[in-house]
Amino acid sequence: MIVITGQLLREARKYEETAEKMIAACDRPAFHLSARTGWMNDPNGFSFYGGKYHLFYQYHPYDCLWGPMHWGHAVSEDLLHWEYLPAALAPDELYDRDGCFSGSALALPDGRQLLMYTGVLREQQADGSVRETQTQCLAAGDGTDYEKYEKNPVLTAADLPEGCSAQDFRDPKIWRRGDGTYRCVAGNRRGDGNGQILLFESADGFSWKYKKVLAGNGGRFGRMWECPDFFPLGGKWVLLTSPQDMLPSGFEYHNGNGTMCLIGDFDEETETFTQRHDQSVDYGIDFYAPQTLQTPDGRRVMIGWMQNWDTCGIRAQEARWFGQMSLPRELSVENGRLYQRPVRELELLRHDRRAYQGVTVSGELSLEGVQGRTVDLELSIRPQEGQELYRKFAVRFAQNDKYRTSLSFHPGDSILKIDRKFSGSRRAIIHQRRSLVNSRNGRLKLRIILDRFSVEVFVNDGEQALTATLYTEQAAAGISFYADGAVRMDLVKYDLGD
Ligand code: FRU
Repeated sequence: MIVITGQLLREARKYEETAEKMIAACDRPAFHLSARTGWMNDPNGFSFYGGKYHLFYQYHPYDCLWGPMHWGHAVSEDLLHWEYLPAALAPDELYDRDGCFSGSALALPDGRQLLMYTGVLREQQADGSVRETQTQCLAAGDGTDYEKYEKNPVLTAADLPEGCSAQDFRDPKIWRRGDGTYRCVAGNRRGDGNGQILLFESADGFSWKYKKVLAGNGGRFGRMWECPDFFPLGGKWVLLTSPQDMLPSGFEYHNGNGTMCLIGDFDEETETFTQRHDQSVDYGIDFYAPQTLQTPDGRRVMIGWMQNWDTCGIRAQEARWFGQMSLPRELSVENGRLYQRPVRELELLRHDRRAYQGVTVSGELSLEGVQGRTVDLELSIRPQEGQELYRKFAVRFAQNDKYRTSLSFHPGDSILKIDRKFSGSRRAIIHQRRSLVNSRNGRLKLRIILDRFSVEVFVNDGEQALTATLYTEQAAAGISFYADGAVRMDLVKYDLGD
């Protein structure tokens, strides 16, 4: 048994247990994980251990703002119903006293669960400046309580080749290979400001050494690369990373922090990655720092922080939690692209089906039985037979007289736009995003998942995803359709939840 002696962790556990009780279930998302109390960012340690899915997260329990990072913790049997466990890590050692930053987890052959995370230390220098160092650290435990490894940190800047930043060195993602050895990837920045993903190796998971640069930015995608993940899928290898400070590029990448993937080939002998294709992972507003796991039945499932560093100020101050995870999404590589679909477990939450076949939308339309804020909506549209191509189609939701969020499609230029300008936000942050989608002759398939505070859109059976948070009052539960011109629409709607 592990006895938790650290004062900071004990305090956090006591605090969160009381604070959680002040949040009513209906003030949280119905099937997305939100912070137990206070602030949540990146998913951490997303893994299967002891018969359950574990999801840890960057956590500041005492405030709805980012602060000294702890690891929050929750478990689930179906990736949708989450049960909170006590906070797993607090920043209580010299090497991590300024934060237990992002990391990952796996099951060790001896039955313990291993966490690998970034320890942050800020030290005042003689000249008054502050030097920050980030190192990689371990903790092992039983699924609830964890002991930090006595030889922490296990990777420091001293392990890195010259020119690698000691300050931007974080977010280890660990995995066990078929031969029983371990690998991990971590984000790093070079002296010239370019992000890179470093690969490390270990025989036992505890003693680590630098292997090589797995991939480098080369001045292309933002600056520092955060939160890498690397895994085989559909005969290819996928490298996920979340670059900071992106410049926009067409409709593929937007300004600020983004999430992208490189898809390519990996020579497992020489451990050389050759990239063939790059793309955005989410084309909406709120999605960052995703992490994946492999389910016991072999699916690769990704979950992301359903937020964006540049749009954090969107919630009302009086809220008691900030930060949600996205839906877990099943990944596949099809025609060289990353596809995402909501985990199939979501289908078990469906009830109250309504279906409409071949409805004509021309102007405004509401459909009997189609409304709500926890909804799974599948629709496919095409031009009305014998009529010229329609000019615009829109779905509006979280709607009442005052508020609405909309998804609109212009077939002329194949642009799908998400717009939450009228969702109730009082802040001058990003409220719209446009995405180029694959549509021929005005045909498009959309699956729209609404939870109380979010919308996730899956285009053309997972070819693209667009995600946005919305904090519109729950009374705004209308859903309506609009077409400029004439659209034929098939629609299936389910309510979601227990
Ligand atoms: C990404 C990130 C990580 C870091 C963590 C700190 O959102 O900046 O790189 O580990 O958040 O909370």
